[in-house]
Amino acid sequence: MSFGSKLLTRRGIALLQFSSVGKTPCGGFRTFTTSKANVCGLNISRNYSSTSTVDVELTSVRYKDHVQRGNFAALQPDDVSFFREKLGKHRVITDQSDLDGYNVDWLRIVRGSGKIVLKPKTTEEISIILKYCNDRNLAVCPQAGNTSLVGGSVPVYDEVILSTSLMDAVINFDEWSGVLVCEPGCILEKLNDYLLDRDFIMPLDLGAKGSCQIGGNVSTNAGGLRLLRYGSLHSTVLGCEVVLADGTVLDLMSTMKKDNTGYDLKHLFIGAEGTLGIVTKLAIQCPAKPNAINLALLGMDGFDKVLTTFKRAKRDLGEILSSCEYIDTASMECVTGNLNLKLPISQSQFYMVIETSGSLGEHDEEKLNNFLEDIMEEKIVSDGTIASGSTQIKDIWALRERIAEALLKDGYCYKYDLSIPLTVFDELVQDMRTQLGIGAKRVCGYGHLGDSNIHLNITSETFDKSVHNKIEPFVYEWVAKHNGSISAEHGVGFKKRDYLHYSKPNEAIGIMRDIKKLLDPKGILNPYKVLPSNFSPKI
Ligand code: FAD
Ligand code: MLT
Ligand code: ZN
Repeated sequence: MSFGSKLLTRRGIALLQFSSVGKTPCGGFRTFTTSKANVCGLNISRNYSSTSTVDVELTSVRYKDHVQRGNFAALQPDDVSFFREKLGKHRVITDQSDLDGYNVDWLRIVRGSGKIVLKPKTTEEISIILKYCNDRNLAVCPQAGNTSLVGGSVPVYDEVILSTSLMDAVINFDEWSGVLVCEPGCILEKLNDYLLDRDFIMPLDLGAKGSCQIGGNVSTNAGGLRLLRYGSLHSTVLGCEVVLADGTVLDLMSTMKKDNTGYDLKHLFIGAEGTLGIVTKLAIQCPAKPNAINLALLGMDGFDKVLTTFKRAKRDLGEILSSCEYIDTASMECVTGNLNLKLPISQSQFYMVIETSGSLGEHDEEKLNNFLEDIMEEKIVSDGTIASGSTQIKDIWALRERIAEALLKDGYCYKYDLSIPLTVFDELVQDMRTQLGIGAKRVCGYGHLGDSNIHLNITSETFDKSVHNKIEPFVYEWVAKHNGSISAEHGVGFKKRDYLHYSKPNEAIGIMRDIKKLLDPKGILNPYKVLPSNFSPKI
């Protein structure tokens, strides 16, 4: 066990002595600064699972009582010829074996039967494709990194799959303003690396960074691990270019922070999940790279101590607090057990990952050390470690970021991404356990505590309808009762569209439907997603 150089606190005592257990196999409390945050880039490829994609039941079969194919045209040989003529044969995929990965989602809960994938390289090509599909009444499913967790990125039936993966150029970066202009197919992690070389970072970070694309992130209004610090994409996306269903190119590419010239239409496309248009260009406000980053993993017994730690972190760390995540013991057991990862502190009922990012290392360390010393001394926290070096940073983030991946190893994962008041986080997990009895393999909670966003996950060996029916609508009713949101950050997609009313009044859903009709009158863009299947507007 190596503790490296001991960090002296303001009271002149080495912090590691405050660990009530004192065993920190991966290193004790010590300071750390690095140029790169969150170096744990998961490459979540389509071939991630060794099981065949055809093992996943077709969405049209599993959900036959919930969805009906719309009155869209079916793909004809003439359509394929048209697309080949416009894109060239290599950017039009029709071989069944190549199509499989595009038809199944990352969670392996939905499977479409799309017969063609198109890979445009320019806005003009997307405009030609959409105009043609609109005229022909062919439905289209936009797909970026295919890491959607709500069945949004794959067809439900035979929609044309429009992949943005070849549109991955950085168009411009302005080092004075920090504004990045890029195409939608840029992979999040690559953008972050590009910016790190220029002393900036992306304003968002998530476990899927190695695969997800910025166009997919914006289209889902992804949250992730840095939202606490840098806000949502609604505040950092300054402009976008979008191709509408009929092929019209809508240029909303402002690179200015302030622009009060009427309705701010770009917000319609942030989080629209491909139902209103295809995002083809983006302008994003990026923050400067923090000079000093510190990461602590803490263990505590009792959810009240999680809450107290968060409150104290906000008070004592103030402006340098950049991430505040929580992991319950069942989630930690899953990620360490299923992925064979090591827990560097002793076992606790709850864990927190707390990151600080600032411009002056010594100042941040002093703040963090004082904070840790206090919460250890007051026995709010029972054990903890500060990452020392990029490997430890990576290892600690892996314990949080790879939970989603670990859960899949249980078999089937029922995933719920909810906004609820902090005070009832653990109550929900306990209530779900009671509701399910012995029916589930695992019920666990983790997530973005700093944003009031819990990820409630339940697993079983295989998809089990009786387990599913016990969870839904129970979970949505529970959330509505607490005035929460049934989707904090993953979106609505296919999976949650019929539960929208738990978080939105009918009047709001009616306006959403009217906007959809205005921008996509034939409904060709990502049908069966976001809007409820049988909603009749009451306004
Ligand atoms: P896809 O999954 O391909 O698409 C997402 C949606 O956007 C689909 O509806 C698709 O039709 C649409 N779309 C894609 N590109 C365009 C475009 N150019 N124009 C219009 N519509 C488009 N989400 C979070 O919010 N926070 C997290 O912390 C987080 N962590 C994750 C961790 C893991 C391991 C995984 C697998 C997923 C995670 N997600 C998280 C969920 C997911 O929303 C994000 O990974 C990401 O935002 C999706 O990006 P993507 O490129 O994979 O998009
Ligand atoms: C996360 O925060 O890890 C992601 O949103 C994925 C998940 O919910 O499992
Ligand atoms: Zn999340």
